[in-house]
Amino acid sequence: MMSVLMWRSCLSKLSLSGPRARALGLCTFFLWLPLSLTADEHRHSFELTTTCPAGFKLIEERRCKLNSLYDNYRSPHDSGVGGPRAGLPKIRDGFSPQVIDLGRYLFFDPLLSADNSIACSSCHDPDYGFADGLGRARGINNAVLDRSAPSLWNIGFFDTLLWDGSKSSLEEQLIGPLYADNEMGNRPDQLIADLRSNAIYQDLFTVAFGPGEIQLDQVYTAITAFESSLVSLNSRYDFYAHGLQTALSPSELEGLNVFRSFVSRCGECHTPPLFSNQEIAIIGVPEPKGRPFDPGAGASSGIPSQRGGFRVPSLRNIAKTAPYMHQGNFESLRDTVAFYNGGRGHAVPEDENLLIHWHIWDPDLREEELDRLVDFLHALTDEGFMPEIPKRLPSGLTPGRAMNRNNLTSR
Ligand code: HEC
Ligand code: HEC
Repeated sequence: MMSVLMWRSCLSKLSLSGPRARALGLCTFFLWLPLSLTADEHRHSFELTTTCPAGFKLIEERRCKLNSLYDNYRSPHDSGVGGPRAGLPKIRDGFSPQVIDLGRYLFFDPLLSADNSIACSSCHDPDYGFADGLGRARGINNAVLDRSAPSLWNIGFFDTLLWDGSKSSLEEQLIGPLYADNEMGNRPDQLIADLRSNAIYQDLFTVAFGPGEIQLDQVYTAITAFESSLVSLNSRYDFYAHGLQTALSPSELEGLNVFRSFVSRCGECHTPPLFSNQEIAIIGVPEPKGRPFDPGAGASSGIPSQRGGFRVPSLRNIAKTAPYMHQGNFESLRDTVAFYNGGRGHAVPEDENLLIHWHIWDPDLREEELDRLVDFLHALTDEGFMPEIPKRLPSGLTPGRAMNRNNLTSR
């Protein structure tokens, strides 16, 4: 900036001053200065933060630990169904601020795909609750996948991953999209070569992990660390659960009571505070028109009794992630909650004999009660700890966003 000003004042002096040659020489010097600074600035503008993400605190050198009000309560695993004061399962924490921050760049960087066209964030976009607003996600070369991209908020608490619950760690899961032909289409050797030949990434990995060549494990760890920092536990519901009676409006409170009731039974599977018990449940959602039946966990586990089963999804930030269910089967939250009122197994194809979960029955809720459930689901929105979306990336590529690919304005 400074040198640009100097260059401008140089130009204005040029017409006035006598010995033109000398002035021109000086001005050329100032013109050169900003160029060299830009290259240098580019490299140094990618410093990794030494501060833990919002909600986390540094407990010892280079270890961030989540700090939440739920730390005071016991985990649902040893306290039954779990009322509002139940604890959370353990989160994947303990990563350093630098590793988490490096993961943020990697998550948004299309350099991680075979043709540099798509990043994790292209399908898990912050603007869409870390989903993408589509019924079925779209991969490299616009390949349409079989299922919907789930939200990643609070994903660090999960040890049952994917719609069919077939993966148990974030590291294991991310190998899938990185190397699947229809997702990011990359190969481990190309990924590592691209990162190693990027001087900025080499610097950042050294800061995060210490000296040495970039390793694939480090890539997976950094992305996992970033994903685990996406915590959402400060919704209006949470303030209510921690004792602030006025945090929920009367209609949201009515909705919470319906949600928790033994009539609707929502809370039996969508157990607070995660709003998922992480189990596989068969609920018999109808597929979108023309789509084949998705056997879900039945196919991946090979256990016939799990046919049509899906892992109970969290409902945190659910208002942000339409359309709903494993392949965007329902457009709105109202349609989604109405499904539960349709009667046990009402949408199961005739030739399927599914073992529908015993909590799915015929609650016979009134229309107003369905509306109140939707009101309550909106009280689960909290994006207060939204990470900063990088404006520029070490690769020089544009950060991957769902909007650029969907041509959707909002959902
Ligand atoms: C082409 C779109 C696409 C890209 C790119 C993509 N994902 Fe996904 N992601 C999906 C879909 C679709 C699913 C659900 C797949 C299933 O369950 O069958 C998913 C599931 C997940 C899950 C499990 C969530 C849950 O609730 O269990 C995680 C975690 C995840 N992705 C992280 C990532 C990371 C990290 C990257 C980058 C390395 C990435 N994804 C790239 C579409 C994508
Ligand atoms: C037996 C366990 C169970 C019960 C009870 C239950 N759900 Fe679900 N819920 C699930 C499963 C499993 C899915 C995912 C199913 C799929 O994609 O096919 C789901 C999905 C959802 C979704 C969409 C999530 C997303 O990310 O797309 C919403 C919203 C939802 N449930 C709300 C409710 C409400 C409200 C109730 C009470 C009326 C309820 N659920 C009762 C198991 C349950």
